[in-house]
Amino acid sequence: MPKHKIAPSLLAADFTRLGEEIAMVNRSEADWLHLDVMDGRFVPNITFGMFIVEAVRRLCTKPLDVHLMIVEPERYVEAFRKAGADVITVHYEACPHLHRAVHQIKETGAMAGVALNPHTPVVVLENLLEDLDLVCLMSVNPGFGGQKFIYQTLPKVRQLRQMLTVANSPALLEVDGGIGLQNAEVLLRAGADVLVAGSSVFGAQNPEATLAALKALNETWL
Ligand code: DX5
Ligand code: ZN
Repeated sequence: MPKHKIAPSLLAADFTRLGEEIAMVNRSEADWLHLDVMDGRFVPNITFGMFIVEAVRRLCTKPLDVHLMIVEPERYVEAFRKAGADVITVHYEACPHLHRAVHQIKETGAMAGVALNPHTPVVVLENLLEDLDLVCLMSVNPGFGGQKFIYQTLPKVRQLRQMLTVANSPALLEVDGGIGLQNAEVLLRAGADVLVAGSSVFGAQNPEATLAALKALNETWL
């Protein structure tokens, strides 16, 4: 059985057919559903908030991986947990008191994740690794779906995998942005545990088959 997780990003779904898109995710081999919350301040774009997360929760049978691309995320951690988030990820760049924010997430019972922008070095998390359930390496500049994968992310995946191994940390290594069948395998080889994929899944002719193909990528070389 493959151990990596696939998390389709709802951002690329057809929002006029949200129920059907979530039903497809439920039927598929996806492990999590990734939800991109944007506030128009931390990132230039605005998407949705806890109202939609709560509605998705009522339909979705898979864990909800909520990626907060918002300033002062501490103010909304409780609300997103109440709305049904299973994983809550805040940005390192948005949190001057990251240790406090991470523990606030853990106290709600959700898994605590921290995301790093493409230019942020992984070493900034060195002294927090043992408290984290997930680290999300952004492989595009956050704000929009459908962007090109930034290849400088690849050495960061390798470096973070090494740091997690040395620290004996069980934190999951997630990569987010510009991922599809063309680069998923190299990311898994580099040490990724969770791949987020938006447009490559929802824009595919057959999204369910694409999820199955991403999930089936062999890891026996690891
Ligand atoms: C970008 C978001 C990503 C995005 C991924 O700000 O965090 O999760 O939805 O979309 P694709 O796979 O299309 O790059
Ligand atoms: Zn995301």
